Amino acid sequence: ADEEEKHLSSECKEVLLSLPKERGWRTAFLYKFQGYWCQAKEIQAIMAFQKHFKAKDTDIILASIPKSGTTWMKALSFAIINRKNFPIISDHHGHPHPLLTSNPHDLVPFLEYKLYANNQIPELSQIADEPRVFATHIPFASLNLLPSMNNIKIVYICRNPFDTFISSWHFLNKLRSQGLPEISLEEAFKMYCDGVIGFGPFWEHMLGYWNESLKRPNNVLFLKYDDMKQDIVSNLKKLASFLGFPFSPEEEKQGVIQDIAKLCSFEEMKKLDVNKNGKSIKDIENKYLFRKGEVGDWVNYLSPSMVKQLSLIMEEKLDASGLSF
Ligand code: A3P
Repeated sequence: ADEEEKHLSSECKEVLLSLPKERGWRTAFLYKFQGYWCQAKEIQAIMAFQKHFKAKDTDIILASIPKSGTTWMKALSFAIINRKNFPIISDHHGHPHPLLTSNPHDLVPFLEYKLYANNQIPELSQIADEPRVFATHIPFASLNLLPSMNNIKIVYICRNPFDTFISSWHFLNKLRSQGLPEISLEEAFKMYCDGVIGFGPFWEHMLGYWNESLKRPNNVLFLKYDDMKQDIVSNLKKLASFLGFPFSPEEEKQGVIQDIAKLCSFEEMKKLDVNKNGKSIKDIENKYLFRKGEVGDWVNYLSPSMVKQLSLIMEEKLDASGLSF
């Protein structure tokens, strides 16, 4: 833990002392900060964000709990928003689309892993282009602290908890800090069900955005990974309209929606050089961001009793809200 926390500000170290902590997945500890579990470095970044971020009405924030399709949502939103400047197929000068040479995390920065990481205070007011597009895993209540946040648009991508768990388990075991023991599926499952997962409990993360999307549908769009996999076209139409960049009938006829879906598809993205060999987020090789990209892979891992246990938790925590999978 000392290695992970050595470079934190003294202010952050002070805060950590007062927080409940549990064994972490990829770091020695997760801390319960403002009601959710996160790593020490994330807490420092979130505190900096909360202190310094000034929203603009035109801002767009892509939100998710980790392993829910964040990378995919960044790619799709970037392609939609920038399609005038960056035509999907290739412009008349033959320049490749940015998504063919950059990882989505390079094009849409995380607030907490990039912009406000390592005690940085970015000069975001100098970004002239609108909309500014950011991404985050911060739960809604901790994101929406200032009234100015009420005007921005938020897209939340949500994935069924069974697949999100399996995806997290694979991913976090790969990224585990040196010297930490591997986490077995059973141990990880217990932690997940107890809510001890980055930015979890997962049900609270989902419900925060879900309830807000019901209250303010023009400001918060709630999409599901699983639905998008099944019917990308209608979900892309929804997304584009919400973002303020609807597809024209002409574009629909030309197949622009299908072109975006293909450009951002798991299969296409996984085989790009930048996604095989690059590194876009500190300590994470891009290749780990592309594993299987399927719905239902959990059947290969979870025992019947695990399925039953997680189903019960989902029923208990989510059913009354109307959110289902
Ligand atoms: P699996 O581990 O189930 O394969 P995140 O981007 O939030 O970290 O989510 C990662 C999950 O999304 C991984 O799921 C990953 O394979 C999948 N993924 C990455 N890129 C994708 C894409 N373009 N389309 C669909 N799924 C994608």
